[in-house]
Amino acid sequence: MIKEKTFVIFRKEETDSERHYERYKVPLKPGITILEALFYIQDYYDSLLAFRYSCRGAICGSCGLTINKFPQLACKTQVEPITVKTHPRVPELVFGEITDWDPETEILIEPLPNMVVLKDLVVDREPFWRFYREIQPFIDTEFEGKAPTSDL
Ligand code: FES
Repeated sequence: MIKEKTFVIFRKEETDSERHYERYKVPLKPGITILEALFYIQDYYDSLLAFRYSCRGAICGSCGLTINKFPQLACKTQVEPITVKTHPRVPELVFGEITDWDPETEILIEPLPNMVVLKDLVVDREPFWRFYREIQPFIDTEFEGKAPTSDL
């Protein structure tokens, strides 16, 4: 018998502010990641499920999600073993009304916190990129001033 895991996924339509959760059963294989489970759900249950990813190698950060109430990378996090992580400085994140999630048997997938949800698990990252551009966290190779002197 194939082992399965139930995923509880946050859903929200683009044009609707209504939020809800849906459950999907995903067959497990060794090493399957949360991102691969989302692909399975998209392929076999609902092709309209929206989520982001890019590198699939834990580099770009675009697959960041709240997994079992803890922000993690979906491409790096394996379905098993997964536990409900807690951190003393991270308050429990509340997105929608979920009262029947069983952390022992189900994996809860929600969008990243403190961001506007556009659709399902996709959040608006524009504020992040705006701050990124403002602080310019890179070395500017265009030298516009005078060359340093060696008067010391
Ligand atoms: S897809 Fe790039 S970090 Fe996960």
